[in-house]
Amino acid sequence: MGTSCSSGIRKAIMGGGSHKVCVCGGAGGIGQPLCLLMAMDPNVKELAIFDLNVAMVPPDGVAADLGHIESKVKVTGHSLNVGNAPKDHLTECLSGCSLVLVAAGMPRKPGMTRDHLFKVNADIAKGIVEASAKFCPQAVVALIVNPINSIVPAMAELYKKSGLDPLKIVGVTTLDCVRANKFVADAVGCHPSSVEVPVIGGHSGVTIMPVFSQDPMATKIKQSTLEALDKKTQDAGTDVVNAKNGKGSATLSMAYAAARLGKAILAGMSGTYSTECAYVKSDVTELPYFSSRVVFGRGGVKQVLDIGLLNEYEETRLEEVIVQLKSEIQTGLKYAEQRT
Ligand code: LMR
Repeated sequence: MGTSCSSGIRKAIMGGGSHKVCVCGGAGGIGQPLCLLMAMDPNVKELAIFDLNVAMVPPDGVAADLGHIESKVKVTGHSLNVGNAPKDHLTECLSGCSLVLVAAGMPRKPGMTRDHLFKVNADIAKGIVEASAKFCPQAVVALIVNPINSIVPAMAELYKKSGLDPLKIVGVTTLDCVRANKFVADAVGCHPSSVEVPVIGGHSGVTIMPVFSQDPMATKIKQSTLEALDKKTQDAGTDVVNAKNGKGSATLSMAYAAARLGKAILAGMSGTYSTECAYVKSDVTELPYFSSRVVFGRGGVKQVLDIGLLNEYEETRLEEVIVQLKSEIQTGLKYAEQRT
């Protein structure tokens, strides 16, 4: 009868879209599940997997593996020039891309803040961002590189310096929304899909600010519990780092969240406006970079939406966000200033 062939997962793997996507760091802990989720996106035509770190799994191997799922997507693997046959892999994997998802850089260890990663990760991000500027300047470059609060301003300013649109650089903060939705759903006893908490500000410590007052489910929760959930959302990344005990930070939930943003961006580029929170160049507050709801359309970022109404608690939190985020943005701006 063949009914098992139409199972849910198979129906979900559509493929056959028109966009090329590159996942940089695609053989890593975030990269591999992210590649799987993007290969299942109906708007994707081609997926290029790039990774410098061939010590664990060669990108070619990830591509060979993923190339066997029931999707129309063409999957290719790329690393740096290996052996005697040098090849410009970055040209090959970035050319023609609509979206570059960058899951590169060092993760935190217990006791570290995201800030500790700035120097090493900014240099890694710069290499990829410069290559994107050269080979796919029209692509949206979504950065999952910590500290996002400083790296995104640094990279967006470098884009601006080379005459490109700084709004092509997008910081992935979707995991904060995913976490806030999950925590509210657990507290209320509903499915997370019926919760949509905007999380604004940035992606570290107090700069992570869930706006619970804007979600109807969350407003059923008493204020003292919401304040505890605010702190739980801020600390969620650190909780994963501690639970992984020195062996990395969030990978699966981060891949899920980045794919949620990636799919929204591609939906926008394919003609269906889509909205997600993201950390971008912004004028919705006094700060030049800020995470708020962003509408994605054909060219990428179409509109950065206002933060909307806040309650008294959230107004006070916003002041705290601004003080902390300002100095983290400054770190990024200084980095860009000192580089060409
Ligand atoms: C997260 O929020 O899980 C990531 O930013 C990784 C980290 O270091 O917390």
